[in-house]
Amino acid sequence: MGIMTLLQRNSGWHQISSLNQTERITKMADSYLNMGDTSILIFGASGDLTARKLIPALFQLSRQGYLNERSPVIGVARRDKSDDEFRNELKASILGDAADTETVEKWEKFARQLFYRRVDISTEADYHALAESTTQLEQQLGAQEGTPRVVYLATAPSLFDGAVRGLNVAGMIPTDRKLSDRLRVVVEKPFGHDFESAELLNEQLRNCLREDQIYRIDHYLGKETVQNILLFRFGNAFFEPLLNRNHVDNVQITVSESIGMEGGRGGYYDTSGALRDVLQNHVLQLLALIGMDPPALFQAREIRDEKMKVLQALRPGSTGPITKWAVRGQYSEGLVGKKPAIAYREEERVPPKSNRETFVAMHLGIDNWRWAGVPFYLRTGKRLPHRVSEIVITFKHPPLNLFSTVECDGDLCNIVEARPNQLVLRIQPKESIFLRFSTKRPGMQYQVQPVAMDFDYEDHFTNHVPEAYERLLLDVIRGDSTLFTRSDELFAAWKFVDPVLDFWESGSSGLEFYPAGTWGPAAADRLLAETGRRWREPVLT
Ligand code: BG6
Repeated sequence: MGIMTLLQRNSGWHQISSLNQTERITKMADSYLNMGDTSILIFGASGDLTARKLIPALFQLSRQGYLNERSPVIGVARRDKSDDEFRNELKASILGDAADTETVEKWEKFARQLFYRRVDISTEADYHALAESTTQLEQQLGAQEGTPRVVYLATAPSLFDGAVRGLNVAGMIPTDRKLSDRLRVVVEKPFGHDFESAELLNEQLRNCLREDQIYRIDHYLGKETVQNILLFRFGNAFFEPLLNRNHVDNVQITVSESIGMEGGRGGYYDTSGALRDVLQNHVLQLLALIGMDPPALFQAREIRDEKMKVLQALRPGSTGPITKWAVRGQYSEGLVGKKPAIAYREEERVPPKSNRETFVAMHLGIDNWRWAGVPFYLRTGKRLPHRVSEIVITFKHPPLNLFSTVECDGDLCNIVEARPNQLVLRIQPKESIFLRFSTKRPGMQYQVQPVAMDFDYEDHFTNHVPEAYERLLLDVIRGDSTLFTRSDELFAAWKFVDPVLDFWESGSSGLEFYPAGTWGPAAADRLLAETGRRWREPVLT
Protein backbone atom coordinates (compact mmCIF):
# COMPACT_ATOMS: atom_id res chain seq x y z
CA MET A 1 0.00 0.00 0.00
CA GLY A 2 1.37 3.40 -0.95
CA ILE A 3 2.53 6.05 1.45
CA MET A 4 -0.28 8.42 0.59
CA THR A 5 -2.84 5.78 1.27
CA LEU A 6 -1.31 4.78 4.54
CA LEU A 7 -1.23 8.34 5.66
CA GLN A 8 -4.81 8.87 4.71
CA ARG A 9 -5.84 5.76 6.59
CA ASN A 10 -3.98 6.70 9.71
CA SER A 11 -4.59 10.29 10.24
CA GLY A 12 -6.94 11.79 7.74
CA TRP A 13 -5.37 13.32 4.67
CA HIS A 14 -6.29 16.85 5.54
CA GLN A 15 -4.25 16.80 8.74
CA ILE A 16 -0.95 15.92 7.14
CA SER A 17 -1.09 17.03 3.57
CA SER A 18 1.18 19.90 4.42
CA LEU A 19 4.07 17.61 5.41
CA ASN A 20 6.97 17.13 3.05
CA GLN A 21 7.83 13.67 1.74
CA THR A 22 10.44 12.86 4.42
CA GLU A 23 8.13 13.95 7.20
CA ARG A 24 5.38 11.85 5.70
CA ILE A 25 7.55 8.75 5.65
CA THR A 26 8.64 9.33 9.23
CA LYS A 27 5.07 9.81 10.30
CA MET A 28 4.04 6.62 8.57
CA ALA A 29 6.80 4.63 10.27
CA ASP A 30 5.81 6.10 13.65
CA SER A 31 2.20 5.23 13.30
CA TYR A 32 3.03 1.59 12.63
CA LEU A 33 5.98 0.92 14.87
CA ASN A 34 5.51 2.96 17.98
CA MET A 35 2.04 1.93 18.82
CA GLY A 36 2.43 1.60 22.52
CA ASP A 37 1.40 -1.37 24.55
CA THR A 38 -1.61 -3.60 23.91
CA SER A 39 -2.77 -6.64 25.84
CA ILE A 40 -4.17 -9.44 23.73
CA LEU A 41 -6.51 -12.08 25.13
CA ILE A 42 -7.40 -15.03 22.92
CA PHE A 43 -10.50 -16.97 23.92
CA GLY A 44 -10.37 -20.45 22.37
CA ALA A 45 -6.63 -20.72 22.91
CA SER A 46 -6.59 -24.50 22.54
CA GLY A 47 -8.19 -24.31 19.12
CA ASP A 48 -6.77 -24.80 15.71
CA LEU A 49 -7.05 -21.12 14.68
CA THR A 50 -4.88 -19.99 17.60
CA ALA A 51 -2.00 -22.29 16.73
CA ARG A 52 -2.34 -22.09 12.96
CA LYS A 53 -3.02 -18.38 12.43
CA LEU A 54 -3.24 -16.12 15.47
CA ILE A 55 -0.06 -16.86 17.38
CA PRO A 56 2.05 -17.14 14.18
CA ALA A 57 0.68 -13.74 13.14
CA LEU A 58 1.47 -12.18 16.53
CA PHE A 59 4.93 -13.75 16.47
CA GLN A 60 5.55 -12.14 13.07
CA LEU A 61 4.30 -8.79 14.37
CA SER A 62 6.64 -9.04 17.32
CA ARG A 63 9.60 -9.98 15.05
CA GLN A 64 8.96 -6.96 12.90
CA GLY A 65 8.65 -4.62 15.83
CA TYR A 66 4.91 -4.02 15.59
CA LEU A 67 4.13 -5.70 18.91
CA ASN A 68 6.38 -4.65 21.76
CA GLU A 69 7.60 -6.84 24.61
CA ARG A 70 5.44 -5.01 27.15
CA SER A 71 2.27 -6.42 25.55
CA PRO A 72 1.04 -9.64 27.15
CA VAL A 73 -0.60 -12.24 24.90
CA ILE A 74 -2.89 -14.33 27.08
CA GLY A 75 -4.41 -17.58 25.85
CA VAL A 76 -7.74 -18.35 27.50
CA ALA A 77 -9.46 -21.73 27.43
CA ARG A 78 -11.20 -24.25 29.65
CA ARG A 79 -8.50 -26.80 30.19
CA ASP A 80 -5.90 -26.55 32.94
CA LYS A 81 -2.51 -25.66 31.52
CA SER A 82 0.59 -23.88 32.73
CA ASP A 83 2.21 -21.00 30.86
CA ASP A 84 5.12 -23.25 29.96
CA GLU A 85 2.89 -26.01 28.64
CA PHE A 86 1.09 -23.46 26.48
CA ARG A 87 4.37 -22.01 25.18
CA ASN A 88 5.84 -25.43 24.45
CA GLU A 89 2.76 -26.67 22.61
CA LEU A 90 2.74 -23.58 20.42
CA LYS A 91 6.46 -23.72 19.83
CA ALA A 92 6.20 -27.33 18.66
CA SER A 93 3.32 -26.62 16.34
CA ILE A 94 4.61 -23.32 14.92
CA LEU A 95 8.34 -23.85 14.70
CA GLY A 96 8.46 -27.62 14.24
CA ASP A 97 11.96 -29.11 14.11
CA ALA A 98 13.29 -27.15 11.19
CA ALA A 99 13.56 -23.61 12.61
CA ASP A 100 16.91 -21.82 12.34
CA THR A 101 18.73 -20.48 15.41
CA GLU A 102 17.67 -16.91 14.82
CA THR A 103 13.98 -17.88 14.63
CA VAL A 104 14.28 -19.98 17.78
CA GLU A 105 15.90 -17.07 19.63
CA LYS A 106 13.19 -14.70 18.47
CA TRP A 107 10.57 -17.18 19.54
CA GLU A 108 12.10 -17.54 23.01
CA LYS A 109 11.96 -13.79 23.39
CA PHE A 110 8.36 -13.64 22.17
CA ALA A 111 7.37 -16.60 24.37
CA ARG A 112 8.19 -14.53 27.47
CA GLN A 113 5.10 -12.44 26.77
CA LEU A 114 2.88 -15.50 26.21
CA PHE A 115 0.63 -16.64 29.07
CA TYR A 116 -2.24 -19.01 29.63
CA ARG A 117 -5.26 -18.57 31.90
CA ARG A 118 -7.99 -21.11 32.51
CA VAL A 119 -11.54 -19.74 32.23
CA ASP A 120 -14.82 -21.57 32.21
CA ILE A 121 -16.92 -19.36 29.97
CA SER A 122 -19.99 -19.72 32.17
CA THR A 123 -18.27 -19.15 35.54
CA GLU A 124 -18.40 -15.55 36.71
CA ALA A 125 -15.58 -15.91 39.22
CA ASP A 126 -13.21 -16.98 36.44
CA TYR A 127 -13.67 -13.63 34.70
CA HIS A 128 -12.85 -11.74 37.87
CA ALA A 129 -9.69 -13.83 38.18
CA LEU A 130 -8.89 -13.16 34.52
CA ALA A 131 -9.33 -9.41 34.98
CA GLU A 132 -6.98 -9.47 37.95
CA SER A 133 -4.46 -11.60 36.16
CA THR A 134 -4.48 -9.39 33.09
CA THR A 135 -3.69 -6.32 35.18
CA GLN A 136 -0.94 -8.21 37.00
CA LEU A 137 0.64 -9.40 33.77
CA GLU A 138 0.50 -5.91 32.33
CA GLN A 139 2.32 -4.63 35.41
CA GLN A 140 4.79 -7.50 35.29
CA LEU A 141 5.74 -6.69 31.68
CA GLY A 142 5.82 -2.98 32.39
CA ALA A 143 2.84 -2.00 30.24
CA GLN A 144 1.36 1.44 30.77
CA GLU A 145 -1.66 1.76 33.01
CA GLY A 146 -4.91 1.74 31.04
CA THR A 147 -3.29 -0.13 28.17
CA PRO A 148 -5.76 -0.98 25.39
CA ARG A 149 -6.94 -4.60 25.38
CA VAL A 150 -7.89 -6.71 22.40
CA VAL A 151 -10.08 -9.73 23.10
CA TYR A 152 -10.14 -12.24 20.25
CA LEU A 153 -13.16 -14.54 20.34
CA ALA A 154 -11.92 -17.65 18.56
CA THR A 155 -14.36 -19.99 20.29
CA ALA A 156 -17.53 -21.62 19.00
CA PRO A 157 -20.01 -18.82 18.14
CA SER A 158 -22.46 -20.10 20.78
CA LEU A 159 -19.95 -18.94 23.42
CA PHE A 160 -19.50 -15.36 22.17
CA ASP A 161 -22.40 -13.96 24.17
CA GLY A 162 -21.32 -15.64 27.43
CA ALA A 163 -17.73 -14.47 26.99
CA VAL A 164 -18.72 -10.85 26.46
CA ARG A 165 -21.11 -10.91 29.41
CA GLY A 166 -18.33 -12.38 31.54
CA LEU A 167 -15.94 -9.59 30.54
CA ASN A 168 -18.63 -7.09 31.41
CA VAL A 169 -19.35 -8.57 34.82
CA ALA A 170 -15.64 -8.50 35.60
CA GLY A 171 -15.50 -4.79 34.72
CA MET A 172 -13.24 -5.34 31.72
CA ILE A 173 -15.50 -3.35 29.38
CA PRO A 174 -15.03 0.38 30.04
CA THR A 175 -18.28 2.07 30.91
CA ASP A 176 -17.05 5.57 30.21
CA ARG A 177 -17.66 6.33 26.53
CA LYS A 178 -14.42 8.25 26.27
CA LEU A 179 -12.48 5.17 27.33
CA SER A 180 -14.39 2.73 25.15
CA ASP A 181 -11.47 2.29 22.74
CA ARG A 182 -9.56 0.57 25.51
CA LEU A 183 -11.40 -2.67 24.74
CA ARG A 184 -11.74 -4.06 21.23
CA VAL A 185 -13.42 -7.38 20.63
CA VAL A 186 -12.63 -9.40 17.52
CA VAL A 187 -15.37 -11.80 16.48
CA GLU A 188 -14.49 -14.74 14.24
CA LYS A 189 -16.83 -16.00 11.58
CA PRO A 190 -19.39 -17.44 11.22
CA PHE A 191 -21.34 -14.42 12.41
CA GLY A 192 -24.75 -16.13 12.58
CA HIS A 193 -26.07 -18.73 10.18
CA ASP A 194 -28.79 -16.55 8.67
CA PHE A 195 -30.10 -13.00 8.96
CA GLU A 196 -32.12 -13.62 12.11
CA SER A 197 -29.34 -15.34 14.05
CA ALA A 198 -26.82 -12.70 12.92
CA GLU A 199 -29.14 -10.01 14.21
CA LEU A 200 -29.60 -11.83 17.50
CA LEU A 201 -25.86 -12.30 17.97
CA ASN A 202 -25.32 -8.66 17.18
CA GLU A 203 -27.91 -7.63 19.76
CA GLN A 204 -26.25 -9.85 22.35
CA LEU A 205 -22.87 -8.28 21.69
CA ARG A 206 -24.33 -4.80 21.60
CA ASN A 207 -25.82 -5.31 25.08
CA CYS A 208 -22.32 -4.87 26.42
CA LEU A 209 -20.29 -3.36 23.57
CA ARG A 210 -20.47 -0.37 21.27
CA GLU A 211 -20.35 -0.94 17.50
CA ASP A 212 -16.89 0.59 17.27
CA GLN A 213 -15.58 -1.91 19.81
CA ILE A 214 -16.64 -4.88 17.65
CA TYR A 215 -14.27 -6.07 14.92
CA ARG A 216 -16.01 -8.71 12.76
CA ILE A 217 -13.24 -10.44 10.94
CA ASP A 218 -13.30 -11.64 7.34
CA HIS A 219 -9.76 -12.78 6.69
CA TYR A 220 -10.14 -12.18 2.93
CA LEU A 221 -10.01 -8.47 3.61
CA GLY A 222 -6.58 -8.91 5.15
CA LYS A 223 -5.11 -10.46 2.02
CA GLU A 224 -2.62 -8.16 0.36
CA THR A 225 -4.14 -8.54 -3.10
CA VAL A 226 -7.66 -7.93 -1.83
CA GLN A 227 -6.53 -4.60 -0.41
CA ASN A 228 -4.83 -3.97 -3.70
CA ILE A 229 -8.22 -4.00 -5.44
CA LEU A 230 -8.94 -0.59 -3.96
CA LEU A 231 -5.52 0.76 -4.74
CA PHE A 232 -5.58 -0.61 -8.26
CA ARG A 233 -8.97 0.92 -8.91
CA PHE A 234 -8.66 4.26 -7.21
CA GLY A 235 -4.92 4.86 -7.44
CA ASN A 236 -4.70 4.51 -11.23
CA ALA A 237 -6.25 6.70 -13.83
CA PHE A 238 -6.91 4.32 -16.66
CA PHE A 239 -9.05 1.41 -15.42
CA GLU A 240 -11.61 3.05 -13.21
CA PRO A 241 -13.35 5.04 -15.98
CA LEU A 242 -14.03 1.74 -17.77
CA LEU A 243 -15.50 -0.14 -14.85
CA ASN A 244 -19.18 0.37 -15.51
CA ARG A 245 -22.11 -0.80 -17.61
CA ASN A 246 -20.92 1.05 -20.72
CA HIS A 247 -17.73 -0.97 -21.07
CA VAL A 248 -18.02 -4.14 -18.99
CA ASP A 249 -19.73 -7.20 -20.41
CA ASN A 250 -19.60 -9.31 -17.26
CA VAL A 251 -17.68 -9.88 -14.04
CA GLN A 252 -16.79 -13.30 -12.67
CA ILE A 253 -15.55 -14.05 -9.17
CA THR A 254 -14.15 -17.49 -8.44
CA VAL A 255 -12.98 -18.73 -5.05
CA SER A 256 -12.11 -22.33 -5.67
CA GLU A 257 -10.47 -24.81 -3.36
CA SER A 258 -9.03 -28.23 -4.04
CA ILE A 259 -9.28 -29.33 -0.40
CA GLY A 260 -12.23 -31.28 0.98
CA MET A 261 -13.00 -31.94 4.63
CA GLU A 262 -9.45 -32.44 5.93
CA GLY A 263 -8.81 -32.17 9.66
CA GLY A 264 -12.26 -33.47 10.65
CA ARG A 265 -13.95 -30.32 9.33
CA GLY A 266 -16.95 -32.23 8.00
CA GLY A 267 -18.94 -31.80 11.21
CA TYR A 268 -18.82 -28.01 11.08
CA TYR A 269 -19.08 -27.82 7.31
CA ASP A 270 -22.22 -29.90 7.18
CA THR A 271 -24.00 -27.28 9.29
CA SER A 272 -22.76 -24.57 6.99
CA GLY A 273 -22.08 -25.36 3.31
CA ALA A 274 -20.44 -23.31 0.56
CA LEU A 275 -22.99 -20.51 0.57
CA ARG A 276 -22.65 -19.69 4.28
CA ASP A 277 -19.00 -20.64 4.62
CA VAL A 278 -17.51 -18.64 1.76
CA LEU A 279 -19.98 -16.94 -0.58
CA GLN A 280 -21.95 -14.94 1.98
CA ASN A 281 -18.77 -13.41 3.37
CA HIS A 282 -15.53 -13.69 1.34
CA VAL A 283 -17.09 -13.65 -2.13
CA LEU A 284 -19.62 -10.90 -1.41
CA GLN A 285 -16.86 -8.80 0.15
CA LEU A 286 -14.83 -9.17 -3.06
CA LEU A 287 -17.91 -8.21 -5.02
CA ALA A 288 -18.41 -5.12 -2.85
CA LEU A 289 -14.79 -4.04 -3.35
CA ILE A 290 -14.88 -4.44 -7.11
CA GLY A 291 -18.32 -2.86 -7.39
CA MET A 292 -18.10 0.09 -4.99
CA ASP A 293 -17.75 3.74 -5.90
CA PRO A 294 -14.70 5.71 -4.79
CA PRO A 295 -14.94 6.82 -1.16
CA ALA A 296 -14.50 10.51 -0.41
CA LEU A 297 -11.80 9.62 2.12
CA PHE A 298 -9.78 6.47 2.54
CA GLN A 299 -11.15 5.82 5.99
CA ALA A 300 -13.21 3.12 7.67
CA ARG A 301 -16.59 4.83 7.60
CA GLU A 302 -16.42 6.13 4.06
CA ILE A 303 -15.15 2.85 2.61
CA ARG A 304 -17.71 0.77 4.44
CA ASP A 305 -20.50 3.14 3.41
CA GLU A 306 -19.61 2.59 -0.24
CA LYS A 307 -19.40 -1.19 0.14
CA MET A 308 -22.73 -1.15 1.89
CA LYS A 309 -24.38 0.59 -1.05
CA VAL A 310 -23.28 -2.26 -3.33
CA LEU A 311 -24.58 -4.93 -0.96
CA GLN A 312 -27.91 -3.12 -0.70
CA ALA A 313 -28.22 -3.04 -4.48
CA LEU A 314 -27.71 -6.79 -5.02
CA ARG A 315 -30.45 -8.42 -7.10
CA PRO A 316 -30.98 -11.89 -8.52
CA GLY A 317 -29.53 -12.06 -12.00
CA SER A 318 -32.76 -13.18 -13.55
CA THR A 319 -36.44 -13.13 -12.81
CA GLY A 320 -38.25 -16.38 -12.18
CA PRO A 321 -37.39 -19.22 -9.82
CA ILE A 322 -34.23 -19.25 -7.72
CA THR A 323 -32.92 -22.19 -9.77
CA LYS A 324 -32.52 -19.79 -12.70
CA TRP A 325 -29.84 -17.78 -10.88
CA ALA A 326 -28.48 -19.88 -8.00
CA VAL A 327 -27.23 -23.44 -8.26
CA ARG A 328 -25.66 -25.82 -5.82
CA GLY A 329 -23.68 -29.00 -6.06
CA GLN A 330 -21.94 -31.61 -3.96
CA TYR A 331 -18.78 -33.49 -4.83
CA SER A 332 -18.82 -37.16 -5.52
CA GLU A 333 -15.65 -39.22 -5.71
CA GLY A 334 -13.08 -38.25 -8.29
CA LEU A 335 -9.50 -37.23 -8.89
CA VAL A 336 -8.03 -33.96 -7.71
CA GLY A 337 -4.61 -33.33 -9.24
CA LYS A 338 -4.36 -37.05 -10.05
CA LYS A 339 -5.04 -37.97 -6.42
CA PRO A 340 -8.21 -39.96 -5.65
CA ALA A 341 -10.72 -38.09 -3.50
CA ILE A 342 -13.68 -39.64 -1.72
CA ALA A 343 -17.23 -38.32 -2.05
CA TYR A 344 -18.43 -35.65 0.40
CA ARG A 345 -20.95 -38.08 1.87
CA GLU A 346 -18.11 -40.47 2.72
CA GLU A 347 -16.12 -37.80 4.59
CA GLU A 348 -15.55 -38.11 8.33
CA ARG A 349 -18.43 -36.62 10.42
CA VAL A 350 -20.62 -36.02 7.35
CA PRO A 351 -24.02 -37.77 7.41
CA PRO A 352 -24.14 -40.33 4.60
CA LYS A 353 -27.31 -38.78 3.16
CA SER A 354 -26.26 -35.17 3.54
CA ASN A 355 -27.64 -32.72 1.00
CA ARG A 356 -25.25 -29.97 2.04
CA GLU A 357 -23.80 -28.02 -0.88
CA THR A 358 -20.04 -28.03 -1.35
CA PHE A 359 -20.37 -25.80 -4.41
CA VAL A 360 -22.47 -22.77 -5.18
CA ALA A 361 -22.70 -20.55 -8.24
CA MET A 362 -24.85 -17.48 -8.67
CA HIS A 363 -25.75 -14.97 -11.29
CA LEU A 364 -26.40 -11.56 -9.70
CA GLY A 365 -26.83 -7.99 -10.69
CA ILE A 366 -25.98 -4.74 -8.92
CA ASP A 367 -28.92 -2.49 -9.42
CA ASN A 368 -27.30 0.91 -9.49
CA TRP A 369 -26.29 3.55 -12.02
CA ARG A 370 -22.80 2.14 -12.54
CA TRP A 371 -23.64 -1.53 -12.95
CA ALA A 372 -27.28 -1.85 -14.08
CA GLY A 373 -27.57 -4.71 -16.57
CA VAL A 374 -24.04 -6.12 -16.04
CA PRO A 375 -24.12 -9.78 -14.98
CA PHE A 376 -21.95 -10.78 -12.03
CA TYR A 377 -21.22 -14.50 -11.86
CA LEU A 378 -19.93 -15.90 -8.57
CA ARG A 379 -18.78 -19.41 -7.75
CA THR A 380 -17.05 -21.16 -4.92
CA GLY A 381 -16.57 -24.76 -3.93
CA LYS A 382 -14.49 -27.50 -2.42
CA ARG A 383 -12.70 -30.25 -4.34
CA LEU A 384 -12.44 -28.19 -7.50
CA PRO A 385 -9.34 -28.65 -9.67
CA HIS A 386 -7.18 -25.97 -8.01
CA ARG A 387 -6.96 -23.51 -5.16
CA VAL A 388 -7.43 -20.23 -6.93
CA SER A 389 -9.28 -16.98 -6.20
CA GLU A 390 -9.69 -14.41 -8.92
CA ILE A 391 -11.85 -11.65 -10.26
CA VAL A 392 -12.27 -11.54 -14.02
CA ILE A 393 -13.63 -8.45 -15.73
CA THR A 394 -14.56 -9.06 -19.34
CA PHE A 395 -15.02 -5.95 -21.46
CA LYS A 396 -17.40 -5.45 -24.34
CA HIS A 397 -16.14 -5.92 -27.88
CA PRO A 398 -15.22 -2.78 -29.84
CA PRO A 399 -18.31 -1.50 -31.64
CA LEU A 400 -17.10 -2.69 -35.03
CA ASN A 401 -15.09 -5.78 -35.78
CA LEU A 402 -12.57 -4.56 -38.39
CA PHE A 403 -10.00 -7.35 -38.12
CA SER A 404 -9.97 -11.10 -38.11
CA THR A 405 -8.69 -12.76 -34.95
CA VAL A 406 -6.34 -15.68 -35.31
CA GLU A 407 -4.95 -18.37 -33.12
CA CYS A 408 -1.60 -19.64 -34.34
CA ASP A 409 0.56 -22.64 -33.79
CA GLY A 410 3.89 -21.65 -35.32
CA ASP A 411 3.00 -20.34 -38.75
CA LEU A 412 -0.26 -22.19 -38.93
CA CYS A 413 -3.12 -19.82 -38.05
CA ASN A 414 -6.84 -20.37 -37.75
CA ILE A 415 -9.42 -17.62 -37.75
CA VAL A 416 -11.31 -17.73 -34.44
CA GLU A 417 -14.03 -15.72 -32.76
CA ALA A 418 -12.88 -12.28 -31.58
CA ARG A 419 -11.70 -12.35 -27.95
CA PRO A 420 -12.83 -9.57 -25.65
CA ASN A 421 -10.36 -7.66 -23.47
CA GLN A 422 -10.08 -9.09 -20.01
CA LEU A 423 -8.66 -7.84 -16.77
CA VAL A 424 -7.87 -10.54 -14.21
CA LEU A 425 -7.09 -9.82 -10.58
CA ARG A 426 -5.61 -13.00 -9.16
CA ILE A 427 -5.85 -13.06 -5.39
CA GLN A 428 -4.24 -16.42 -4.81
CA PRO A 429 -2.08 -18.35 -5.39
CA LYS A 430 0.73 -16.27 -6.94
CA GLU A 431 -0.91 -12.90 -6.66
CA SER A 432 -0.96 -11.17 -9.99
CA ILE A 433 -2.85 -8.88 -12.29
CA PHE A 434 -3.09 -9.49 -15.98
CA LEU A 435 -4.64 -7.95 -18.97
CA ARG A 436 -5.67 -9.64 -22.18
CA PHE A 437 -5.79 -7.43 -25.23
CA SER A 438 -5.40 -7.68 -28.98
CA THR A 439 -2.36 -6.88 -31.02
CA LYS A 440 -1.40 -7.08 -34.67
CA ARG A 441 0.31 -10.30 -35.55
CA PRO A 442 3.51 -9.43 -37.42
CA GLY A 443 3.08 -10.07 -41.12
CA MET A 444 1.52 -8.73 -44.28
CA GLN A 445 -2.06 -8.94 -43.15
CA TYR A 446 -4.11 -7.19 -40.50
CA GLN A 447 -4.58 -10.10 -38.19
CA VAL A 448 -5.34 -9.76 -34.54
CA GLN A 449 -3.82 -12.02 -31.95
CA PRO A 450 -4.84 -11.90 -28.28
CA VAL A 451 -1.85 -11.46 -25.94
CA ALA A 452 -1.48 -11.05 -22.20
CA MET A 453 0.39 -8.52 -20.11
CA ASP A 454 1.26 -9.83 -16.66
CA PHE A 455 2.15 -8.24 -13.39
CA ASP A 456 3.33 -10.75 -10.84
CA TYR A 457 3.75 -9.70 -7.21
CA GLU A 458 6.61 -12.08 -6.58
CA ASP A 459 8.61 -10.78 -9.53
CA HIS A 460 8.30 -7.17 -8.46
CA PHE A 461 8.44 -7.17 -4.68
CA THR A 462 10.89 -8.89 -2.45
CA ASN A 463 9.64 -7.56 0.87
CA HIS A 464 7.63 -9.72 3.27
CA VAL A 465 4.00 -10.05 2.21
CA PRO A 466 2.01 -10.07 5.45
CA GLU A 467 -0.39 -12.92 6.10
CA ALA A 468 -4.03 -11.83 6.29
CA TYR A 469 -4.19 -12.34 10.07
CA GLU A 470 -0.99 -10.37 10.61
CA ARG A 471 -2.41 -7.38 8.84
CA LEU A 472 -5.81 -7.63 10.52
CA LEU A 473 -4.42 -8.11 14.02
CA LEU A 474 -2.17 -5.10 13.53
CA ASP A 475 -5.20 -3.09 12.46
CA VAL A 476 -7.10 -4.05 15.62
CA ILE A 477 -4.09 -3.13 17.70
CA ARG A 478 -4.09 0.24 15.91
CA GLY A 479 -7.85 0.59 16.34
CA ASP A 480 -8.46 0.75 12.58
CA SER A 481 -11.66 -1.02 11.55
CA THR A 482 -11.48 -0.31 7.79
CA LEU A 483 -10.85 -3.95 6.91
CA PHE A 484 -13.54 -5.35 9.21
CA THR A 485 -17.19 -5.94 8.39
CA ARG A 486 -19.71 -3.52 9.81
CA SER A 487 -23.01 -4.94 11.09
CA ASP A 488 -25.11 -3.40 8.31
CA GLU A 489 -22.87 -4.94 5.62
CA LEU A 490 -23.25 -8.30 7.26
CA PHE A 491 -27.02 -8.00 7.53
CA ALA A 492 -27.33 -6.94 3.89
CA ALA A 493 -25.30 -9.99 2.82
CA TRP A 494 -27.45 -12.33 4.91
CA LYS A 495 -30.65 -10.73 3.63
CA PHE A 496 -29.57 -11.43 0.10
CA VAL A 497 -28.62 -15.08 0.61
CA ASP A 498 -31.37 -16.04 3.08
CA PRO A 499 -34.09 -16.80 0.48
CA VAL A 500 -31.69 -19.11 -1.34
CA LEU A 501 -30.85 -20.95 1.87
CA ASP A 502 -34.53 -21.29 2.75
CA PHE A 503 -35.31 -22.58 -0.71
CA TRP A 504 -32.55 -25.19 -0.59
CA GLU A 505 -33.28 -26.20 2.98
CA SER A 506 -36.96 -26.73 2.20
CA GLY A 507 -35.70 -29.41 -0.18
CA SER A 508 -37.28 -27.69 -3.19
CA SER A 509 -34.25 -27.71 -5.39
CA GLY A 510 -32.39 -30.76 -6.50
CA LEU A 511 -28.75 -31.10 -5.65
CA GLU A 512 -26.42 -31.82 -8.56
CA PHE A 513 -23.32 -33.91 -7.99
CA TYR A 514 -19.95 -33.19 -9.57
CA PRO A 515 -16.92 -35.44 -9.57
CA ALA A 516 -14.16 -34.17 -7.28
CA GLY A 517 -11.54 -32.41 -9.40
CA THR A 518 -13.99 -30.79 -11.84
CA TRP A 519 -15.35 -27.24 -11.99
CA GLY A 520 -18.69 -28.02 -10.32
CA PRO A 521 -22.02 -29.25 -11.65
CA ALA A 522 -23.23 -28.70 -15.21
CA ALA A 523 -25.90 -26.36 -13.84
CA ALA A 524 -23.15 -23.81 -13.13
CA ASP A 525 -22.32 -23.68 -16.83
CA ARG A 526 -25.98 -23.35 -17.71
CA LEU A 527 -26.15 -20.12 -15.67
CA LEU A 528 -23.99 -18.48 -18.34
CA ALA A 529 -24.64 -20.62 -21.40
CA GLU A 530 -28.03 -19.09 -22.18
CA THR A 531 -26.30 -15.82 -23.00
CA GLY A 532 -23.43 -17.47 -24.85
CA ARG A 533 -20.95 -16.77 -22.05
CA ARG A 534 -18.60 -19.17 -20.32
CA TRP A 535 -16.68 -19.32 -17.07
CA ARG A 536 -13.07 -18.41 -17.50
CA GLU A 537 -11.03 -21.41 -16.56
CA PRO A 538 -8.18 -20.10 -14.37
CA VAL A 539 -4.81 -20.66 -16.00
CA LEU A 540 -2.19 -21.70 -13.47
CA THR A 541 1.45 -21.62 -14.35
C1 BG6 B 1 -12.66 -19.96 5.57
C2 BG6 B 1 -13.62 -21.10 5.33
O1 BG6 B 1 -13.34 -18.81 5.99
O2 BG6 B 1 -11.98 -19.67 4.36
C3 BG6 B 1 -12.89 -22.31 4.81
O3 BG6 B 1 -14.28 -21.41 6.54
C4 BG6 B 1 -12.06 -21.97 3.61
O4 BG6 B 1 -13.79 -23.36 4.50
C5 BG6 B 1 -11.20 -20.75 3.87
O5 BG6 B 1 -11.26 -23.10 3.30
C6 BG6 B 1 -10.53 -20.28 2.60
O6 BG6 B 1 -9.57 -19.32 2.93
P1 BG6 B 1 -8.23 -19.18 2.10
O7 BG6 B 1 -7.53 -18.05 2.73
O8 BG6 B 1 -7.52 -20.49 2.22
O9 BG6 B 1 -8.66 -18.91 0.69
